[in-house]
Amino acid sequence: MASGYKIAVIPGDGTGPEVIAESLKVLKAAGNKYKVDFKFTEFNWGGEHYKATGIVLPDDAFDTLRGFDAILLGAIGHPDVKPGILEKGLLLALRFGLDHYINLRPVKLYPGVKTPLKDKGPEDIDFVVVRENTEGLYAGAGGFFKKGTPDEVAIQTSVNTRKGVERCVRYAFDYCRKLNRKKTVTLCAKTNVLTYASDLWERVFHEVGEADYPDVKREYAHVDATCMWMVKNPEWFDVIVVENMFGDIITDLGAIIQGGMGIAAGGNINPQGVSMYEPIGGSAPKYTGKNVINPLASICAIQMMMEDLGESEMAQAIEQAVMWVCANKIKDLGAGKMGYSTTEVGDIVAEKVAS
Ligand code: IPM
Ligand code: MN
Repeated sequence: MASGYKIAVIPGDGTGPEVIAESLKVLKAAGNKYKVDFKFTEFNWGGEHYKATGIVLPDDAFDTLRGFDAILLGAIGHPDVKPGILEKGLLLALRFGLDHYINLRPVKLYPGVKTPLKDKGPEDIDFVVVRENTEGLYAGAGGFFKKGTPDEVAIQTSVNTRKGVERCVRYAFDYCRKLNRKKTVTLCAKTNVLTYASDLWERVFHEVGEADYPDVKREYAHVDATCMWMVKNPEWFDVIVVENMFGDIITDLGAIIQGGMGIAAGGNINPQGVSMYEPIGGSAPKYTGKNVINPLASICAIQMMMEDLGESEMAQAIEQAVMWVCANKIKDLGAGKMGYSTTEVGDIVAEKVAS
């Protein structure tokens, strides 16, 4: 058993610090029970720090973070800071700088959680989205021409590299094998229109699949159709692999069918480096400081972190506790509707993990 993980904690903005406090409470309870030590180091980066210093991320941030076993992020986004500054300067900068080339987003409906999908239950909604996390439109390639004039042109180019596509596709096949369920990976793209970018994805997907993963079934769905199937027949999916922008969009749809931002978590993963885990909702300024936000998504992020660190027993205990709370305690996952405060939900999950 490992004795001591160094965890970097970036609580961030808005309700970030509140949900982080609860997930750390749960992690400490799990650590006590399973005799695993954690050393937490907090970084105060985010909107307030930026307002006070003009610095979004210090120059040595990447080197510093590389010294940790994992990173836990709360939320980024501040009402007084122009949209884009913190998102690009902090969240995306960390994803790119630490080469988090996978954004892993499980879409799993726990028993007791309400889904907006009629006649669908936990047996129908249980799949994983493997989103490419460093390329595509997010690469920031492009620019303005004649900005501010009537002849203005804005160009934003999607960057897709053979290497970036291949490592993402391989991760999806490996993950699917490990899950060992339907053994199906669905490529989500738009081959009928994006005849360069999606074409590369399609070729790499089949080449790699045929050569190295003959035991895994390959399916294809256009991104628009994927949205339709996620609503109509979510049970068809096992693992979806998708480029960055489409992945951003379909994972919000995924989050809502699994019960919303109160429960949806994701991992920004560099399998060879240090990964960063986060609840995928925003900083929720209107709920900040009210002790009403749901901390379960952040607790689920901790669970993903433990799984990746090889602490499967702890990860399972955390997931079981979250499932128990969903099935037996919480009325609704929405902020202010849980029937418990943020800190109470953290207490209940921590107690369950420890029991
Ligand atoms: C997400 C978010 C981010 C993204 C934003 C905040 C930059 O929407 O994690 O899905 O677009 O990736
Ligand atoms: Mn998003």
